[in-house]
Amino acid sequence: MGEEIRGNNCSVCDSPTLREFVSFGRMPVVNAYPSQADLKKPEYTYNLSVGFCEDCEMVQLMEKVPYIKYIVPDETGRTHYAYVSSMSSFMQKHFVDFAHDVETRFLEPGSRVMEVGSNDGILLKGFSHRENVLGIEPSQNVAEIAQKQGIETLTEFFSRRLVKRLVDEKGKFRAVLSANVFLNILDIHDFMRGVNVALDDKGVFITEDPYLPRILENTAYDQMYDAHGRYHSLRSLDNLFEMYGMEIFDAQEQWVHGGSMRVYAARKGTYPKTSNFKKLAEKEEENGLHSLSTYNNFSKRVEQNKEKLVRLLTELKSEGKKIVGYAAAAKSVVVHNYCGIGTNFLDYVCDSTPEKQGKYMPGTKVPIVSPDVFHRDHNVDYALLGAWNHSEEILGKEKGFLSRGGKFIVHLPEPRIL
Ligand code: TYD
Ligand code: ZN
Repeated sequence: MGEEIRGNNCSVCDSPTLREFVSFGRMPVVNAYPSQADLKKPEYTYNLSVGFCEDCEMVQLMEKVPYIKYIVPDETGRTHYAYVSSMSSFMQKHFVDFAHDVETRFLEPGSRVMEVGSNDGILLKGFSHRENVLGIEPSQNVAEIAQKQGIETLTEFFSRRLVKRLVDEKGKFRAVLSANVFLNILDIHDFMRGVNVALDDKGVFITEDPYLPRILENTAYDQMYDAHGRYHSLRSLDNLFEMYGMEIFDAQEQWVHGGSMRVYAARKGTYPKTSNFKKLAEKEEENGLHSLSTYNNFSKRVEQNKEKLVRLLTELKSEGKKIVGYAAAAKSVVVHNYCGIGTNFLDYVCDSTPEKQGKYMPGTKVPIVSPDVFHRDHNVDYALLGAWNHSEEILGKEKGFLSRGGKFIVHLPEPRIL
């Protein structure tokens, strides 16, 4: 503890007008699932609270967590990240479409593509010319999965220095991509300088991250945690890009991760601005995204949401029902810890990621088991669905549970039994 990176000023524009609007108390790191042996050791926690910069409008964590807390070296020094991208068939299709979109709109023969935080290669493997793609992924366990599939992947952190070296070696890139990574870059200014060095004349930076208006409207406070350092609106992103002579020229909403935005940026004037982008930006204005009161209202809804969920679970428990958690998602870690949902309510949490099975939920220490355990357990009455963003896929595959009378509980946008 005590290693948080805390600055009182905005991490984007350095203005002192960063206003905290919601606080969840001390929180463990979401992707640091303790093993049995780790249970005896003290767990790292940080103060999870989120603020709004009245100057550049970026919504951001008040305290940032160093990468080392969740990209963890094992005994041999091999860096390890518990999050593996290719765990959902829906997500695989999503990334194939993403690659196709970039390829058809922006690439010319020989154009190079770089992805920052390429994980197991889920996006890069969708490109037709694998010889022209490069992944940057500091976590060796997931980078190795991509490498085995023939996707060149450097196990380093993205930095301006690294990009300079890559460009000197083989030239510039037409596209720099990131999915669910840009929102968490600690040194955002070094990153933007790196993007600028990487891109050729018609170069595009495309990033896809959870979209702030969807977080607000769904009361999806569980998107707020250590590995998500910023929550983007188009306006706040555009303000950031402007500092580097760039601008957003297109934006497309995506349904993944409970509502994301794919944002396309380039040097000013390179591409015409699409009407879709303009429409979305206007909508942000109408919805009061620039006003602190919007965020204070969100904070009130978060507290009400917690009270209602705890009330529901308490009632079910007092009726003698058996409740388990479904998915050890990062989002589940936030909800369970903020609402105090531990072994007092849940017998276990099941999750399909082998890396998480046999471990425990950070903070609450509820054991994580494979879905097989859940399938064999016919005494479960309710499953609290942490991965609500995958509800369609999960409800589709859990017909057995549903047909014997089992029910899912979701906490969004209001806690309820499905
Ligand atoms: P994800 O949606 O990436 O959420 P987060 O960013 O909050 O971690 O993770 C979903 C989690 O749900 C992941 O741990 C795998 C798990 N999962 C299942 O257990 N079963 C499923 O059918 C699906 C789709 C996901
Ligand atoms: Zn700011």
